Amino acid sequence: MTNIAVLGFGTVGGGVVELIDANQDAIRKRLPEGLYVKYILDIRKFPDSPYGGRVVDDINRILEDPEVSVICETMGGIEPAFSFTKSALEHGISVCTSNKELVAARGTQLMEIARAHGASYLFEASVGGGIPILRPLRDSLAQEEITGITGILNGTTNYILTKMDQEDASFDDVLKDAQAKGYAERNPEADIEGKDACRKIAILSSIVSGKSVRYEDIPCEGISEITKADHAFAKLAGCRIRLLGTYRKSGEAVFARIAPYLVPEDHPLYSVSGVFNGILIHGNMVDDVMFYGQGAGRYPTASAVVSDVMTLAAADGKCVSTEWSEEKLTLTNAEREKNTFFVRLPDSRLDAAKQLFGDTIVKTLGSLGGETGLILGPMTEEVFGTVIQALPEAAYLRML
Ligand code: HSE
Repeated sequence: MTNIAVLGFGTVGGGVVELIDANQDAIRKRLPEGLYVKYILDIRKFPDSPYGGRVVDDINRILEDPEVSVICETMGGIEPAFSFTKSALEHGISVCTSNKELVAARGTQLMEIARAHGASYLFEASVGGGIPILRPLRDSLAQEEITGITGILNGTTNYILTKMDQEDASFDDVLKDAQAKGYAERNPEADIEGKDACRKIAILSSIVSGKSVRYEDIPCEGISEITKADHAFAKLAGCRIRLLGTYRKSGEAVFARIAPYLVPEDHPLYSVSGVFNGILIHGNMVDDVMFYGQGAGRYPTASAVVSDVMTLAAADGKCVSTEWSEEKLTLTNAEREKNTFFVRLPDSRLDAAKQLFGDTIVKTLGSLGGETGLILGPMTEEVFGTVIQALPEAAYLRML
């Protein structure tokens, strides 16, 4: 029996404990000795839970028990998750986690500590919830030069954008509905301003580049400025609006960005709706590979955590793999990135827009509610940013 400890008996931690019980038969097909949750660390007591007798409130009980081979950190946040993870790794105990905030902020350091102590720090659940994405990138696609990642990486914002589109509803109304249903946090900033997705594209960029990508260096825009008019014009253009995390490698230039985009209907991500996530990987030999599934939730996320536990248990807790080096990846100045753009502006400014954008206007979408929509051919962010300043009444989005 492989004994594990779960830090935090919340949504994901509770899911891990239940999953290990419910799927013990499936687990034993791959891991004949089975998995057992010996400890659950939480400051709360759970007298009514069948697992209440395994709850402890002192991390040292776990660290000092030589029978514990793997720890699952499902607490979330930076502290005390960082200190507990660091101590566990320093004791030579491997840790797996769903905590993308900690991975994005301190993952490089924790992997280094793990390596120095012959342990591992794995985080499949930190990106895409239940979707297997990090291990396929590391293993199945290890032979590829990954030149592009385009991902819907946040379920909350995808739910909001989908609802706005389907019900012709405002951002504020749909956000309130999402909060009432428990999809959006009471403080939704990390989701709606793109920070959660930004951490995830930083983790993916680090894995495919093999170097450390700081999420703070990635240009990040959220969805709080998206209006009903944007959705109406997107429909006219045969598109849907989606918050995308992008990574592009072209020669030596590497760009990453989080922003809302118009996604055309022939693109695989067009159909990824509601709380689902979708991640399109482009390899130089394999071409496009698409990953789709539940990007959040108790059991999907727990499933990804337990997949790491199984990997570690099969390797006796010591599957030493460093996902990326401490060397920092220098992202190319985002102003040099080329994009196509959708612009909407008052009908009265159409002539001015035609003069300013000239031949770069590839399509006029017509007029809706006193505004005209335009599609512009590819140009650098720098050129677009300079020209659009002359049209302060205009709103714009990038297009795939
Ligand atoms: N808040 C995140 C989302 C949870 O909505 O996708 C999963 O990381």
